[in-house]
Amino acid sequence: MLKIPTIQARKKYSSIGVLTSGGDAPGMNAAIRAVVRYAIVHGCQVHGILRGYSGLLDEQMIPLEATSVANIIQRGGTLLKTDRCEAFFKKSTRKKAAEILRKKGLEGLVVIGGDGSFTGAHLLEKENDFPVIGVPGTIDNDIAQTDDTIGFDTAVSTAIEAIDRIRDTASSHDRTFLVEVMGRSSGFIALQVGMAGGAETIIIPERKQSIQNICETIDRGIRRGKTSSIIVVAEGQKPGLSARLAQELSQSGHPAKVCILGHTQRGGTPTAHDRVLASVLGASAVAYLMAGKSSAMVGIQNSQVALVPFSKVIGVKKQVSQDLLQLAQELSS
Ligand code: F6P
Repeated sequence: MLKIPTIQARKKYSSIGVLTSGGDAPGMNAAIRAVVRYAIVHGCQVHGILRGYSGLLDEQMIPLEATSVANIIQRGGTLLKTDRCEAFFKKSTRKKAAEILRKKGLEGLVVIGGDGSFTGAHLLEKENDFPVIGVPGTIDNDIAQTDDTIGFDTAVSTAIEAIDRIRDTASSHDRTFLVEVMGRSSGFIALQVGMAGGAETIIIPERKQSIQNICETIDRGIRRGKTSSIIVVAEGQKPGLSARLAQELSQSGHPAKVCILGHTQRGGTPTAHDRVLASVLGASAVAYLMAGKSSAMVGIQNSQVALVPFSKVIGVKKQVSQDLLQLAQELSS
């Protein structure tokens, strides 16, 4: 059972901000709700900053009451909207952002996002002495020092539902399908989806596979009487890898259809798991901030809430489980 950390000494913050940044992830709304309601219960006001760091620079802020976040726990996307803000790479821009936060009377900030958003948050604090806590929100689950991120479970469930449907067509037509899932340069979504979807093979950036190898897997299945195959492909840095693979497979005498799930994985109703995770992490972020902690991310380690300094999170490559990958391959052979 996930527990919100008990914090004894509290700083007297009267007003904090919250923003979502980077790609949206199902469960971000539940996290916003938790930040707002937990802060209010503990005597602190919250301002919602719209459109991530871009909205902060444009001073787009709205006061959030407990009722402002009613009826959003079940909604995908983010009420506050989000953005990938190139301008925030500049030191002078971050200085301006800190000045705006102070001018608006905010004393701390909760940033819900991924690695890139945390880099901005870390520098904002370091250069301007403005307290920030990060909450991991990304479908990719590629953030170091946390076992889980908000949105991952929902994205995986969405992809599994799609694969179950694709299997009907694959088996009716005796076809091979390449199903491309998101995850950028990490294979967490692909591995989880491949395992749960019983894929014949899983292609992830962390483990290179030759076309010959993939053809052998398909042929092995055919020899055992399989007439269709599902191959889960992690998109990698550039979406479209599955189309290139399909071309090479076809040239090797193994025609394959391609289905790119793309942004369907980012939207939709968050699962119960993501709602609970987001609620616990959102409230914990406020609890830590009010206890005077900052420059850190709240994450999950061994089923417990953990506070990890940004310096140990940012730019650190999280490793996929090679054991799980091996098991998935063994179970599908
Ligand atoms: O980081 C989340 C993610 O959905 C990745 O899996 C994907 O590569 C990327 O964002 C897509 O970003 P955008 O929506 O900006 O095209």
